[in-house]
Amino acid sequence: MIKKVIKSKEEIYNDVLEVYVNEINKNPEIVLGLATGSTPEPLYKKLIEAYNDSKISFSKVETFNLDEYEGIKKENEQSYYSFMNKNLFSKVDIKKENINMPPNKEEGIEEYEKKLNEKKIDIQLLGIGSNGHIAFNEPGTPFNTRTHKVKLAQKTIDDNSRFFDKKEDVPTEAISMGLANIMEAKKIILIAIGETKAEIIKELFSNDNISEQLPASILKKHEDVTIYMDQEAAKLI
Ligand code: GLP
Repeated sequence: MIKKVIKSKEEIYNDVLEVYVNEINKNPEIVLGLATGSTPEPLYKKLIEAYNDSKISFSKVETFNLDEYEGIKKENEQSYYSFMNKNLFSKVDIKKENINMPPNKEEGIEEYEKKLNEKKIDIQLLGIGSNGHIAFNEPGTPFNTRTHKVKLAQKTIDDNSRFFDKKEDVPTEAISMGLANIMEAKKIILIAIGETKAEIIKELFSNDNISEQLPASILKKHEDVTIYMDQEAAKLI
């Protein structure tokens, strides 16, 4: 069962921040599954503010990110590593050794999986692609997939081209945590903001179907998932 929360964008980020502040304080060694994209950015800003106001510390927090473009150098400003560094890691007291980013090439997958299997993600943060992908698990990805190399769907390349100078610069492959890894998280928070997510949110909630053609539909099987939506994203449900 998915719990739905429909509120204004501002209220959503405040609500989710509250969850993080409470959970981090309850368990300072919490393991967080983090996401990239425009959706988590406001949350990361609020987490930095909370850290600056001494409401939370990341000194014992460990993180795992969902995905990384394949073949992109860490230092490249389009890498998800750079995104995380710029938007969160460099601004809080997290220890470098507690940051786990997926590899940018296939060879690192086994090691990433090993680390993931030694830990249990307490809260997994997710956005949703306009085609229903979570992390970079595109439509058609088997539900039992673990960290793997993916070929990005054309829709994803088109959507993500807004972050690049030219469409040709968007990587066509990535390394992503699989749907099985995501489902192992104790708690899952998915945030969907804006009209561009309205169609896929409608599809997700229009029936009880769980289908590999809509990767996010696997979340219906998880026992602690909340989807936070603003009025635009929820306007068709
Ligand atoms: C990207 C990421 C996903 C993210 C999704 C939505 O491709 N790999 O993890 O959830 O697209 O992005 P945004 O939040 O920018 O809409």
